[in-house]
Amino acid sequence: MISISNIYVQYGDRIVLNNINLVIGQRDKVGLVGRNGAGKSTLLKLIAGTEEPQSGNITRPTHSTLAFLHQDLLLPKGKTVLEEAMSAFEEIKQMEARLEELNHILAERTDYESDSYHDLLIEIGDLSEHVHLVGGSTAEADAIKILAGLGFKQSDMNRLTDEFSGGWQMRVELAKMLLRQPDYLLLDEPTNHLDIESIIWLESFLENYPGAIIIISHDKQFLDNITKRTIEIELGKVFDYKANYTKAMEMRKERRELQQNAFDNQQKVINQKERTITRFMAKASKTTMAQSMQKQLDKMERVEIDDEDTSAMRLQFQPSPRSGQIVVEGQNVKKQYDNLLVLDGVDFKMDRGDRVAFVGQNGQGKTTLAKILVGKEPATAGDVTLGHNVMIGYYAQNQADSLDPKKTLLETMEENSPPELRPRLRNILGSFMFSGEDVDKKVFVLSGGERARLAMACLLLRPINLLILDEPTNHLDIKAKRC
Ligand SMILES: Nc1ncnc2c1ncn2[C@@H]1O[C@H](COP(=O)(O)OP(=O)(O)OP(=O)(O)O)[C@@H](O)[C@H]1O
Ligand SMILES: [Mg+2]
Repeated sequence: MISISNIYVQYGDRIVLNNINLVIGQRDKVGLVGRNGAGKSTLLKLIAGTEEPQSGNITRPTHSTLAFLHQDLLLPKGKTVLEEAMSAFEEIKQMEARLEELNHILAERTDYESDSYHDLLIEIGDLSEHVHLVGGSTAEADAIKILAGLGFKQSDMNRLTDEFSGGWQMRVELAKMLLRQPDYLLLDEPTNHLDIESIIWLESFLENYPGAIIIISHDKQFLDNITKRTIEIELGKVFDYKANYTKAMEMRKERRELQQNAFDNQQKVINQKERTITRFMAKASKTTMAQSMQKQLDKMERVEIDDEDTSAMRLQFQPSPRSGQIVVEGQNVKKQYDNLLVLDGVDFKMDRGDRVAFVGQNGQGKTTLAKILVGKEPATAGDVTLGHNVMIGYYAQNQADSLDPKKTLLETMEENSPPELRPRLRNILGSFMFSGEDVDKKVFVLSGGERARLAMACLLLRPINLLILDEPTNHLDIKAKRC
């Protein structure tokens, strides 16, 4: 059991976690939800112990194991996919060594009645249970099974992890965690880099997971399929529901309606009393009564309605010239990477006003086609022609990663802005929900969703009449996606 008591975290004028209390049980499957920047990743980092709260404390049984999948990470270089995944078993090897050591110590002890002897027995019990669960002769086979489930091909196993994109490196890290089977598994937006097949595989894996899981996700379906408890962070407070996401959001709505009704009723009573008091005050004979009524009223406990974060992003586009009728046209477009044929003679045409979706499994060439359209990647053969006056805005997959972490928000915008927009940048940042002190924050402290929002704001600083977006909603919360 993890217990979290009176945790307080504040950055600048923003209180992220306001004295929160929670208990996470050994088998809990928790969905941690909330708006972008609400403090979800912060809470996981505190539980994992990679960050410290300003006050309050978090305790977890000493011998329990925990693994934490960060929202963004890169693996160390130089190992193959399989080697990296197998490194998960190093912890087990250490545990086996420790177990042997403890058994030696135990054999020499005679103080059978002492507390420390008892503690030793408990540690040995916990360790051997864990080693038994995870270790064993099937290590490599298990690693391969899990990697395959997460979408790696047999031929990928011996490639270096450096050759893979951030998303695929994250999958290797995820595989390591699943192999270690920690008592507490903390996952920060694990589905962002997964395709549908891998998400389904991960769902079924996690459903049967023996330990506790806390998952941050903006994916409703994924949460509903795995979690049985939902913790929402909103404006520094936590709301705990014993239900999956969909049910929890219904309960939240009902609770707010009840609060609103109670509040309205109380307001009626208060208004009535105030009117009576005013009337009584006017009569000398009744002032004492009026005063005591006033005292009663002052003492009355007021119904409070939970604060709700209703802020919303407003996308602003700069005015742009009209393009020709045909925006882009491709004929017999081929694309080959070494011996991998991705596009084989593709024809397409897009007209002004078209809304086109590229769909397909991971690795089928959606990003490649987008890059060819933008001119970031040459086609191996065929023609791609842009129409008259076409101005492209391209939001690359992981666009947010291209932001300079050391710059502030305002500096980032200034760098990307045409001079005439400079005086309006604070205003534009405001419509992307960055206000006041926020604009002086450095990019590296931003939450995943905030970073995505900033990248989007930068993109929309220039006139655009063809917008190409490669997975722009990763990291965005449900409200932001709707914009
Ligand atoms: N070191 C820091 N200095 C200033 N502000 C910070 C710092 N670290 C985090 N923040 C701010 O704290 C808030 C909470 O961040 P956190 O990463 O926990 O959000 P989140 O709920 O995980 O959001 P997302 O869904 O976008 O990932 C954000 O507004 C972020 O900008
Ligand atoms: Mg986060």
